[in-house]
Amino acid sequence: MDGTGWQLVFVPFPDHIKLSKMQLKKKIAIVTGASRGLGAAFAKALVAKGVVVYGLARNLQKLTAIRNKLGDTFIPIGMDITEQNTIASWVKNTFSDSHLPDILINNAGAGYFGKIDELTLEQWHAMINTNLNGIFYISSSIVPFMKKNNSSSHIINIGSILGKASRAGAAGYSASKYGIQGFSEALFKELRKDNIKVTCVNPGSIDTHFFQDSGIEPHHNMLQLDDIAAFVISILETPDNLLIDEITLRPLNSRPVT
Ligand SMILES: NC(=O)c1ccc[n+]([C@@H]2O[C@H](COP(=O)([O-])OP(=O)(O)OC[C@H]3O[C@@H](n4cnc5c(N)ncnc54)[C@H](OP(=O)(O)O)[C@@H]3O)[C@@H](O)[C@H]2O)c1
Repeated sequence: MDGTGWQLVFVPFPDHIKLSKMQLKKKIAIVTGASRGLGAAFAKALVAKGVVVYGLARNLQKLTAIRNKLGDTFIPIGMDITEQNTIASWVKNTFSDSHLPDILINNAGAGYFGKIDELTLEQWHAMINTNLNGIFYISSSIVPFMKKNNSSSHIINIGSILGKASRAGAAGYSASKYGIQGFSEALFKELRKDNIKVTCVNPGSIDTHFFQDSGIEPHHNMLQLDDIAAFVISILETPDNLLIDEITLRPLNSRPVT
């Protein structure tokens, strides 16, 4: 009893309420598009947490250079995620009942911007094949293994702010990123009962090659790779019973460079 007349009573949580969270050390992750940009930042942050990371991208040389920096818990896998057979056989040969994936970050992405009558067929197909077909190929191969996992698993899909509201010159890219939004929402509803979390992360402009190549005007206040990676780590570390299905990350002030 204190001077206010109130008595503080400690009430323990009932046993049936689990407050455990994913302990990242020794977990197994797959990060697509790990050869540069956001994917390389995710790989670095996960390895620092003690996670074994399979880093996928087409450029094996860049992935190997990353392994040389991060060490052997980063495993470079030279692969094109638009090739369904290659993905399916890699997943089948890599994972087993005694080696189950805990985390999948679907990050690889292609973006081409411009007027609809200037966008080439190759650019349209590259966006749909990478941003949509690729996510389907790898997720549908990995999920059966995640379902066997006794502890919770987590799929993070990297969408975009352009998957929530579009702009002129982004028809193809937005079509693919709105698709990721719908894919993620359906998947979180489907997989929550299997103890698999699905989160769609929609970033605004990030300081990477992707943005530099996009032709969209840069600004002083782009999102920074390490900040996004740290934030995604914190999403992975949320308590098992807490699901973030979707989140948008924006620069505070996105005025163009003058
Ligand atoms: N930068 C931004 O402003 C921004 C904003 C919102 C959302 N995003 C999204 O964030 C994600 C990462 O973007 P970023 O800025 O880091 O892009 P980035 O620097 O261009 O990196 C893209 C990564 O994807 C890989 N990749 C592309 N096509 C692939 C394929 N067919 N198979 C395997 N890997 C492939 C690339 O590696 P290889 O070339 O070696 O295959 C590279 O590692 C993308 O989904 C992008 O749409 C970016």
